[in-house]
Amino acid sequence: MTVRVDLNGLLATAVGSDGIAADELAAVEPELVRVREELATRRTAGDLVFAELPYARDDARRAIDAAASLRPDFDTLVVLGIGGSALGPRALVTALADEAAGIRVVVADSIDPEGFGALLGRLDLGRTMFNVISKSGETADTMAQFLIVRDRLLRELGAVDYKRHLIVTTDASTGALRQIINDEGFHDLPVPAGVSGRFSVLTPVGLYPAAAAGIDVEELLAGAAHMDERAKAATSAANDPALTFAAALWLLATRHRKPIVVMMAYCDRLVAAADWFCQLWAESLGKAVDLGGRTVEWGQTPIRALGSVDQHSQLQLWVEGPRDKIVVFLRVEDHGATVDLPATYQDLESLAYLGGHSLGELLNAEQRATELSLAKRGRPSATISLPALSAFTLGQLLYLLETATVAAGALADVDVFGQPGVEEGKRLTYGLMGRPGFEAGKDEVDAWMARKDARFVV
Ligand code: PA5
Repeated sequence: MTVRVDLNGLLATAVGSDGIAADELAAVEPELVRVREELATRRTAGDLVFAELPYARDDARRAIDAAASLRPDFDTLVVLGIGGSALGPRALVTALADEAAGIRVVVADSIDPEGFGALLGRLDLGRTMFNVISKSGETADTMAQFLIVRDRLLRELGAVDYKRHLIVTTDASTGALRQIINDEGFHDLPVPAGVSGRFSVLTPVGLYPAAAAGIDVEELLAGAAHMDERAKAATSAANDPALTFAAALWLLATRHRKPIVVMMAYCDRLVAAADWFCQLWAESLGKAVDLGGRTVEWGQTPIRALGSVDQHSQLQLWVEGPRDKIVVFLRVEDHGATVDLPATYQDLESLAYLGGHSLGELLNAEQRATELSLAKRGRPSATISLPALSAFTLGQLLYLLETATVAAGALADVDVFGQPGVEEGKRLTYGLMGRPGFEAGKDEVDAWMARKDARFVV
């Protein structure tokens, strides 16, 4: 049940000059050796906390135990969070939620008043648990959701009962949420120090909602550990799946002008994992300066796509439009559920061939056909294959993509763990919303609005 990365479609032998040539691969080998050593050193120094998460069994146990007590009192868990604090849980739950083994899990990361209001309106609060997730414990979106939910619970369930309906996942020692937990005594789970939102899927951020949804968290972590062990056992850097995948995307971005990577899932249940990857790749690698402080404005724009749906909307552009993309397919060999195609209309050649096959076969045939049609037009692609979608294979996939992101960051020489561009927007929002200490943010926005020329508002 090993996840494999097939890079053939990225090579010059498959796609010509838009692909990676053999001599480029050979030339990058010393860089890969350097990155491999650098990452191993940083791990030993405790600098890559996310990489040790497959082995963080105490936190996993806390998440599993907390989720185990949800039934029979609760039938819905609503996750309140945003960014990595929502995309990780959603990736897990979308892929593997099992209502027979768990309860319904809804991830609410939108603060659209209509959408959030409608969600609250639909819930039976007496049977709903809310998991507030924020590493910083201060993000306006999540704090706003928390304030609304806490208020509703208090009013509907009373001052004694309402606390039973909230569990807060946040930094173990800092932030406003941690202070509230200390003051008011909500149940809580920790986000380990040194793990930012987009690398937190294998902490209680992802594990508690996953366990609530009936997902086998131990298997998920075992899958992540399996990918890690494969990397450690690789006899050369080129045999380490994450490192090689990262190097290929980095080479194509820097030497072959491929500023876009499309993550295309040929499996509905992996579409949220593709969204999760997009945040991981974008926020980690999109940086103005390198580690030496030089302006680089580096990054590669990730786009999520769904097969076969987007074959019929986007593929035309990818095949014939600008040569600026790499497509990464997520392929599941065995889809599990077999939906057979009936052998009807045998007298119509254009339909008869479908009979006797399954929908999974058709979906996988379409993936293979898309891969080749891209290659024939010189458009590079890679395929990540999961033998089947399970907790074990999903754990491998997530860990693969996290380590590949960090490796790509090391190749591009950027800090993958910061997000100064996001912080700026938070600061301006605080100013606009009147948070003390952020008045300058409001002044800046006011000045920006005053500079707008009415002639160009049409
Ligand atoms: O990856 C990240 O660090 C961000 O996307 C955060 O997850 C997001 O900004 C939410 O932050 P927090 O979890 O502190 O509320």
